[in-house]
Amino acid sequence: MNADLLSSPQVAPSILSADFGRLREQVDTVMAAGARVIHVDVMDGHFVPPITIGPLVLGAIADDIHERGGLADVHLMIERPERHVDEFAKAGADSITVHYEATPHVHYALSKVKDAGCRASLAINISTPAEVVAELVDELDMVLCMTINPGWGGQKLVESSYAKLERLRGIVPESVPIEVDGGIDPRTAPRCAQSGARVFVAGSYVFGSDDPAAAYDEIVGALTQRA
Ligand code: DX5
Ligand code: ZN
Repeated sequence: MNADLLSSPQVAPSILSADFGRLREQVDTVMAAGARVIHVDVMDGHFVPPITIGPLVLGAIADDIHERGGLADVHLMIERPERHVDEFAKAGADSITVHYEATPHVHYALSKVKDAGCRASLAINISTPAEVVAELVDELDMVLCMTINPGWGGQKLVESSYAKLERLRGIVPESVPIEVDGGIDPRTAPRCAQSGARVFVAGSYVFGSDDPAAAYDEIVGALTQRA
C-alpha cells in the first residue's frame, strides 16, 4: 500500500453506485482517470437497512486496485465491525473504517484493524459530536465525517457538516486526513476542503454519470481551482 497517498487531496470513487455487472471495468475507468483511492461500502442490513457487499467482492477488485498503486478504502457500515476486520484485511483492504456508533468497543475495533496491518479509520454519523474522536486520536490514521445519513447514495450533503469539519480539524492533527462521504460533487467538495477535508468520497456523481472519468475529473478540477 502507498501510505503517502492520503497526504495529498484524493477523490475516492465509491463503487456503491457502480454497475456491478462490470465492476472491474468501472474501477479501471476511474483509476485510468487518476483515482487512487477506491471506496468500498459494506452494509449489513442491521447498522443500516440495505445489504451490499462483503469480502468476496472486495477480493475480486483488490488486486486490480493494488496493481495500479491504489488503495482499497473499506467503509464498514456493519454492527460489531471488530468481528469482521480480519476477513476484510485478508480480502485486500488497505484502510478499514469502523463506525463509532456500531460497537461499544471502538478502541478495540481500531486496534484490531491495526493488528491486521491496515490503516485504522473512525467514522462518525451526523448526530455524533466531533468531540468523541478526541479520546481516540492516537489510534487514528483517518477520520470519516459522514455528510449524509449512511445507507444510500444520491442524498444531499447536510449543510451543518461544514462547521463540524472545522471542529474536527481542530481536534485531529494535520497528519490525520479527514474524509467526507455523501453528497460530494464539484460544488460541495471545495467547500469541504476549505473546512478541512482531504479525502472526498463520491459515488453517484461519478458512477451515476455517463462518463465516470469525466465526472471524476470535474471534482478534481473543482478542488484544484480552489487550491
Ligand atoms: C453511503 C455511503 C457512501 C455513498 C455516497 O452510506 O457511505 O459512500 O456511496 O454516495 P453519494 O456520493 O452518491 O452521496
Ligand atoms: Zn461510504
